[in-house]
Order: sequence, then structure tokens, then C-alpha cells
Amino acid sequence: MKKLFVTGGAGFIGSAFIRLVLEKMPSTSITNFDALTYAGNRDNLEDIDSAQHRFIHGDICDRAAVMSALEKNTDAIVHFAAESHVDRSIASADAFLRTNVLGTQVLLDAARARHVKRFVQISTDEVMGSLPDDDAEYFTESSPFAPNSPYAASKAAAEHLVRAAHQTFGLDTLITRCGNNYGPRQFPEKLIPLLLANALRNESIPVYGDGLNVRDWIHVDDHCRAILTVLEKGRAGNVYLIGARNPRRNLDVVLDVLHQLGKPSSLIRHVKDRSGHDRRYAIDPTKIERELGWQPAETWQSGLAKTILWYQKNSQWIERTRSGAYREYYSDQYGTELAPKAAA
Ligand code: NAD
Ligand code: TYD
Repeated sequence: MKKLFVTGGAGFIGSAFIRLVLEKMPSTSITNFDALTYAGNRDNLEDIDSAQHRFIHGDICDRAAVMSALEKNTDAIVHFAAESHVDRSIASADAFLRTNVLGTQVLLDAARARHVKRFVQISTDEVMGSLPDDDAEYFTESSPFAPNSPYAASKAAAEHLVRAAHQTFGLDTLITRCGNNYGPRQFPEKLIPLLLANALRNESIPVYGDGLNVRDWIHVDDHCRAILTVLEKGRAGNVYLIGARNPRRNLDVVLDVLHQLGKPSSLIRHVKDRSGHDRRYAIDPTKIERELGWQPAETWQSGLAKTILWYQKNSQWIERTRSGAYREYYSDQYGTELAPKAAA
């Protein structure tokens, strides 16, 4: 792979993927195409070598902009760009349909027009809906689609378009579906960075409902290594589930992080449950393990320790992402204001 076109590379997972590729494949050049929405952040690319990395500020729904940025001889498009937060999709689905559905079709069309060799769609376990509370059932590649939030529905729709491009036009496509990521540079609207940012400032931690919903957690670098493996070795037209065999209840995650930080559990505040809140996600990653030989490198303990350290050391990054529009979002979402300045 000499030439990659990455969408959403200024976001949490896309920026980690670019770092990984540049480290593992020093002769690869990357075009990073990103609209810099509230979730995209040039700070996430600060330490990336510009000789191998070309940043283009653009919207994947803008066909002309995509066509002009997508060079001939591109080996693969790795498509991360998305509206990614369930709670925001409940507040309004418009941007989700636009970017996640229409934007994906624009990229598929562009891939065909430019004869791009592979197309990797970064999807989510959430397209398969919710598993029962007991521990017996896991998602596999043959689990049916059953999206429950507008976010999940838009990602499911995108997957259908990717499948159709493969079936109808023979485009070499791959789909990865991962569970909940955690790690450096995650926008603090998501559970773990919100929890870390708030706890480090002694602010309360909102836990939805009874806090017993289960998510299957994976360190972002393990997710990115899995995507790279699929990009290099995956079989065209296939779906691969990515998971680190690490399902945990939200309350256990929160208590674990508070314990590591030496903060009291009295910071937990139970708040109204999310509408349509999926109860349990749990991934069976046997296919990617057996077929492609991928295994996670981090345990929950090692991954969490590294993540905590990163947020402790990068208080300026947290302050910048929590400024402005995020404060408004937070008070609308949680009915409470964030403290004006860090009091850690
Ligand atoms: P993120 O919200 O941190 O980043 C999304 C990026 O996409 C941002 O840089 C944003 O500016 C960019 N973007 C949004 N709309 C765009 C548009 N119209 N044109 C160009 N760029 C646009 O998201 P993330 O957590 O890094 O997730 C990346 C991908 O991985 C998404 O497709 C998401 O569905 C998927 N995913 C995420 C998780 C997770 O736990 N975060 C798990 C499984 C799958
Ligand atoms: P989130 O990080 O939003 O990811 P997703 O909804 O895509 O799984 O949420 C992870 C879990 O944490 C989910 O069950 C909702 C819950 N949650 C809270 O309890 N409080 C919060 O403030 C947030 C953001 C999430």
C-alpha cells in the first residue's frame, strides 16, 4: 500500500490510524480528508510528519471536492468520517443521514471513478442492535441488522451501500465492525473521556439509568491494528467483527476509572436513561483472529492505564475540546453546567 485516502483522519480513531500507518509503513503517503466538524481537531495531528501526510479540509458530501482530492493510483480508501455520537443522533438525525449515508455513497462513486483498489468501511457493532442481558449471546458476522438509534441506523444504511457497490459494481470492499473504543484524543462527549475529564476536575459523572448496560471495550490502537490487518489481508466483500473480548458494565467501568484516579464514587450521579438505550454489546472476534491472525496487544488494565496517563498529561487538550460549543452541548444534554475552569 503506497497511497491511502483516509476520511475523518482528524477525529479520534482516524488520527490514531494515521499514526499507526506512518509508523508501520514509512513509504506510504496519506491524504487525510476531513471536514473538521466539532469532533475533528487539527491538534490530533500535531506530531504527524507532513512529508507523508497531506491534510485536505473538505466534506465527503461534496462530490467535486472529493474527486479533486482523490488521486489516481490510490491503493485504498479507509473511510472513518462520520457523525459518531448516539446522543446527538437522538437530538437530531439530519447530519447523520447526510454524512454517514450520502457521504458514503459519494466516496463509493469516487472510488469507482478513480479505480481505487480497495474500500474499507469503518462500521460499528451497533448496527446489530442489542443483545439480551444474560452472558450467553455474542455478535458474530452473521448476526442480523437491528439498529436501534438513528446513529446505528445511518451506519447500517452505509453498510448496505458498501455491500451494493461490491455486489453490483465489483468494487473491492471490506467492512469492519468494532465495539466501543477508548484511548487518547477521544472527544469528551463519549463515556470514558467524559468520565476522565470530569473526574480529574472533581465534577460529577452522569451515569444513564441503572448503569448496568454492557459495552465491549477495546483500546483504539488495537482497533487500528485490526483495520490495518483487514486492509492488507481481508477477503473482498467480507465483514470482520473487531473486539478484545472485554465486555463490561458501565458502572464497573466508571468505578474502575475512579479507583485508578483515587477519586470517590460519590462523584457518580445517576441521570435519566438514554431513549432506546441498547442493553448489551458483546463481540465474538473468532473470524478475524482465526482468518487474519489478529490479536489485541492491550489488556483492559494496560490500555486503561495508558489512557488515564494521556488525559492526565494533556489537560490543555481537554480544556480546548471542552470549550465553546461543547459547554452548550453539555448543559443541554445533562441539564447542568461544566465548571468554568479546571479545578483539579
Ligand atoms: P469522531 O467523531 O471522533 O471523528 C469523526 C471525524 O469525521 C472528525 O474528524 C470529523 O471532522 C470528520 N467528519 C465528520 N463529518 C464529516 C464530513 N461530512 N466530511 C468529512 N469529514 C467529516 O469519530 P471516531 O470515534 O473517530 O469514529 C470514527 C469511525 O469509527 C466512525 O465511522 C464511527 O462510526 C466508527 N466507530 C467508532 C467507534 C468508537 O467507539 N468511537 C466504534 C466503532 C466504530
Ligand atoms: P458512549 O460512549 O456514548 O458510546 P455508545 O453509546 O456508542 O456505546 O456510551 C457508552 C455507554 O455509556 C452507553 O451505555 C451510554 C453510557 N453513558 C453514560 O452512562 N453516561 C454518559 O454521560 C455517556 C456519554 C454515556
